[in-house]
Amino acid sequence: MATKKKELKTIKIFDTTLRDGEQSPGASMNIEEKLRIARQLQKLKVDVIEAGFPIASEGDFEAVKRVAQEIKGPEIAGLCRANSKDIDRGWEALQYAGEKGRIHTFIATSDIHMKYKLKMKPSEVLDAAVQAVKRARSYTPNVEFSCEDAVRTDLKFMAEVVAAVIDAGATTVNIPDTVGYTIPFEYFNIIRYLKENVANVEQAIISVHCHNDLGLSVANSIAAVQAGAGQVECTINGIGERAGNCSLEEFVMSLRTRSDILPFKTNVATEYLTPASRLLTTVTGIVVQPNKAIVGANAFAHEAGIHQHGVLMEKSTYEIMTPESVGLKENLLVLGKHSGRHAFKKRLEELGYDLDDENLNKAFERFKALADLKKEVFDEDLEAIVVDEVMRSTDQYKLTHITVSCGSCAVATATVQMEIDGKLVRTAELGDGPVDATYKAIRKLAKSKAKLLQYNVGSITGGTDAQGEVSVRLSEGDKTVTGRGSSTDIIEASAKAYIHALNRLHFKTARVAESL
Ligand code: KIV
Ligand code: ZN
Repeated sequence: MATKKKELKTIKIFDTTLRDGEQSPGASMNIEEKLRIARQLQKLKVDVIEAGFPIASEGDFEAVKRVAQEIKGPEIAGLCRANSKDIDRGWEALQYAGEKGRIHTFIATSDIHMKYKLKMKPSEVLDAAVQAVKRARSYTPNVEFSCEDAVRTDLKFMAEVVAAVIDAGATTVNIPDTVGYTIPFEYFNIIRYLKENVANVEQAIISVHCHNDLGLSVANSIAAVQAGAGQVECTINGIGERAGNCSLEEFVMSLRTRSDILPFKTNVATEYLTPASRLLTTVTGIVVQPNKAIVGANAFAHEAGIHQHGVLMEKSTYEIMTPESVGLKENLLVLGKHSGRHAFKKRLEELGYDLDDENLNKAFERFKALADLKKEVFDEDLEAIVVDEVMRSTDQYKLTHITVSCGSCAVATATVQMEIDGKLVRTAELGDGPVDATYKAIRKLAKSKAKLLQYNVGSITGGTDAQGEVSVRLSEGDKTVTGRGSSTDIIEASAKAYIHALNRLHFKTARVAESL
């Protein structure tokens, strides 16, 4: 007799890498970078992409609009506070996604937020929530409402808010653990309470959104789906405000690996998890700790002899999932100076980069120049090329030329030429070593007062001909950003990293609305 296959409930994956993830210190992305990540999320087949917070700045608005115009498949959400101005502006950007556009509106419901932040009475908050949802519904039937700081909200009041916003037309209601305070048992009970005490709850999907302040965001999200939540909000590599958000790859692989006791599945194409993680690291400069689950460098490395022996005999002795299932492939030597355009394009596609002809040509030229300097070109080199040649092409500041003279008996001198807003400018500076001279020259050309907080140099791959990779951290006022640059010349890599960070500062400064 054939055994009946267990029915698995599909949990919607709402990715907020481009919104909450971008709120990580130093993670701001330009439009080109956001689009690149969005294309990877499309390949991952997430159900919803939260593309940004349209009213926050012109840059955010444009990014949400471009994602809404270009990405097909997932629904596209934009965050809006519970007021008409935010919602109207939000829909202006989201309308391009048509019926896939989702307005995500929110207001805090906890006593502490209502009293100190909003200075509003509960009845006023309830009214604002209902009005916001109604306004959003006048644009689209796809409306999500979030009770900010839900975990610290009085349960009876929250049940009232949830019922009212569903009545007003919300199709998804999110119950966020905004400050990462809850634990699995408590969160399970909160979701269960709403499921059992809100009469119209089945007319909407209950969503959860967990922050990782206590390292429990994935565990809490799992507990919530066990209690009946149908959507989980998460980010690639778990980036996000403070300690980050629920990690998409950890949550998805937990459901997949333990479907024996967790009767759930997602639509995520897990073989794109590793490329997505690497792309995000390349774009933001935020590196993943080596021991991070699923996508850390050591996640599938077996060090102890006894483990290595076991895995050689039978993989499942020490591996609960295969590296292939998360898209981890051996880093084979890919290309060399005799490789053609076709092989180059194919390898980029395998890594998740589909470039148009113009960008492919730019990247290919740079690859040829690199292959002349370097015998072996690895995947990481290709990723660095795409970032430099394609994603940064719209930057305000660009390095066009650098010459440095230095030595043990010489005063270091750097001559730097940059393109700033389309105009070529050049200067020379002396310094305490070549990097100092270079940074002085860049600061002078960009008229920047930014402070250098951190400078790190490493190599992308092995060998003395490897590309050096420099990452820097800059701050100006209350803004902190990271920048990365790569080149076989360490000084050029240093200059690129600094200029990348300046571009990010510039982009961030343009943001006007209060940060969330
Ligand atoms: O953490 C949070 O509460 C949020 C909401 C805006 C959903 O990010
Ligand atoms: Zn959040």
